[in-house]
Amino acid sequence: MDLNGKHIVLGLSGGIACYKAAELCRALIKEGATVQVVMTEAAAQFITPVTLQALSNRTVYGSQWDAREPNNMAHINLSREADAILIAPASADFMAKLLHGRADDLLSLMCLARPIDTVPLLIAPAMNREMWAHPATQRNMAQLKADGTHLLGVGNGEQACGETGDGRMLEPQELLQDVIAFFQPKVLAGHHVLVSAGPTFEAIDPVRGITNLSSGKMGFAIARAAQEAGAAVTLVAGPVALATPRGVKRINVVSALDMMDACVSQADQATVFIATAAVADWRPDTAAHEKIKKDGSGLVPQLGFVENPDILATLAQSPRAATGDLFCVGFAAESHDLLAHATAKRARKNVPLLVGNIGPSTFGQDDNALLLVDANGAREIPRNSKLALARLLVADIAKRVARQSA
Ligand code: C5P
Repeated sequence: MDLNGKHIVLGLSGGIACYKAAELCRALIKEGATVQVVMTEAAAQFITPVTLQALSNRTVYGSQWDAREPNNMAHINLSREADAILIAPASADFMAKLLHGRADDLLSLMCLARPIDTVPLLIAPAMNREMWAHPATQRNMAQLKADGTHLLGVGNGEQACGETGDGRMLEPQELLQDVIAFFQPKVLAGHHVLVSAGPTFEAIDPVRGITNLSSGKMGFAIARAAQEAGAAVTLVAGPVALATPRGVKRINVVSALDMMDACVSQADQATVFIATAAVADWRPDTAAHEKIKKDGSGLVPQLGFVENPDILATLAQSPRAATGDLFCVGFAAESHDLLAHATAKRARKNVPLLVGNIGPSTFGQDDNALLLVDANGAREIPRNSKLALARLLVADIAKRVARQSA
């Protein structure tokens, strides 16, 4: 659970998106957080404190005159216990209040009274598109950001008022991912990570082709972990139906040649390249323009193959890799003798780090085990979820990159 041990004060200001805060509260708790809800009077017009009390298993605070706290200082006590204060939804009015340091109700008072260096304030705005686009709101947002508030963006789409545009509160699952990401150490801040993931598909004709069993899950987890670590991330993905991790730029490709083109064109901006894709070694030498038909003669089509370019080896030989400006990491999916194969592959691909895993026990699974092979030897990262492994691998890569540029 990604929020184990975290205490979140979830603040609701008035807006129709309050109904989504109930789901968010539940999602935070499911990830291991404890949640204390604080609501403004306006929020309580949209959703009852009873709902949030039941979901959070804690009585909800709403008034600065609440006598439950022995010292009668709910605004101090609540903010001192928090690992973060998350305002969702944050109305235009509430943001304006925060900006001016106003404190005429418990929620704004608590935000003002929070220890600014140790209790981060995250806000998820929610409002009508005109209110969102208004210069006053945009000015307030910029100033809140300058004051150290962490702004969690808005969604685009149909609004409760019937209009369509920017200003919807992000969905509970999106906010959850953003909160989880917020707590991850920013070990790759300032870096641009390029990840290749998934299988490739090599066409035989317009309806058939050759592919492999790679699910793309490890590469997608690495892209997510790198984004959580503060990097700008580009994910070049072969044909897989996985959701794009939040904040990651995804480029969909089909064949190895497409993947090569996409990776080469993105590599100029990248400082790290992590090649997790299971790129087809060969492709049919010609792809038929029309479906190859059975003609009843019993004769089978004869396929010839040509070798695909090696994307990793190509980028590992690039001038930027040679000068240490592009740190390349390869993967090896083997069925046996992992250490020997991974060691040989690292040398052949000329990369500083090669990550070995056992193909049949990782393809399609949600967990994996990794063997990190470098010039000094090997280190195992034992079986765990792919996301947990991805975070450990990203932390390891960040150290190597920092050492290299020191
Ligand atoms: O040679 P092999 O396919 O086993 O090497 C695996 C590593 O090389 C992986 O990191 C994979 O993404 C990368 N690779 C590549 N282009 C290829 C073949 C493999 O980038 N054509």
